[in-house]
Amino acid sequence: MTLLKILTYPDPFLREPTKPVADIDDEIQTIIEDMAETMYEAPGVGLAAIQAGIDKSIIVYDPDADVEKKDFHVLINPEIVFSEGEMVSENEGCLSVPDLRADVKRSEKVTVEALDRNGNPLKIEAVGLLSVILQHEIDHLKGILFIDRISALKRQLYKKKRRKALKSEPTV
Ligand code: NI
Repeated sequence: MTLLKILTYPDPFLREPTKPVADIDDEIQTIIEDMAETMYEAPGVGLAAIQAGIDKSIIVYDPDADVEKKDFHVLINPEIVFSEGEMVSENEGCLSVPDLRADVKRSEKVTVEALDRNGNPLKIEAVGLLSVILQHEIDHLKGILFIDRISALKRQLYKKKRRKALKSEPTV
C-alpha cells in the first residue's frame, strides 16, 4: 500500500471536476486501498480521490476513524439524489484546507446513490455526521471546498492567512 500525497488549497487540481469510474478494475481497487490508508494516516473521516491527485469519482469514509478496525466504506460515482432540511455542521474541517475549522450550513438529510467497490448499486439515507461527510466528500468530486460555503469575509481572511503561511515555507 502506498500513502498518497494530499493536495492542499490553493492547488488548482482540487477545483477539477472528477470523471465517473467506468470500469472497477484492479487499478481502482489499488486506488481505494491507498486512499483508505491515506485517510487513516492523516487522520480523517473521509477522503475524495481528487484530494490525492486522482480525478476519479471515488470517496472513502469512516465516521469512527477507527484505525484498528479499518472498517471503511467506499462509494463510486456517488450522487445526492434527495436532500431535505437544514443544519449547521459545527467546526467542519478538511484535510485539503489546513488550519481552518468553520461552521457550515448543510442539508440535514441526504439520500445518496452510488456503486460499492464491487459495482453493486447502493442507496444510503444519511443524517447527522454521516450526512455531513457525504455532502463534504461529494462536493470535492465537483471541485467544491467547504470554504466555498462559509461567509465571504471568513473566506477572505483564510485566503490571506494561507498566502502568508505558504510564503514563509522554505523553497526547495
Ligand atoms: Ni475535505
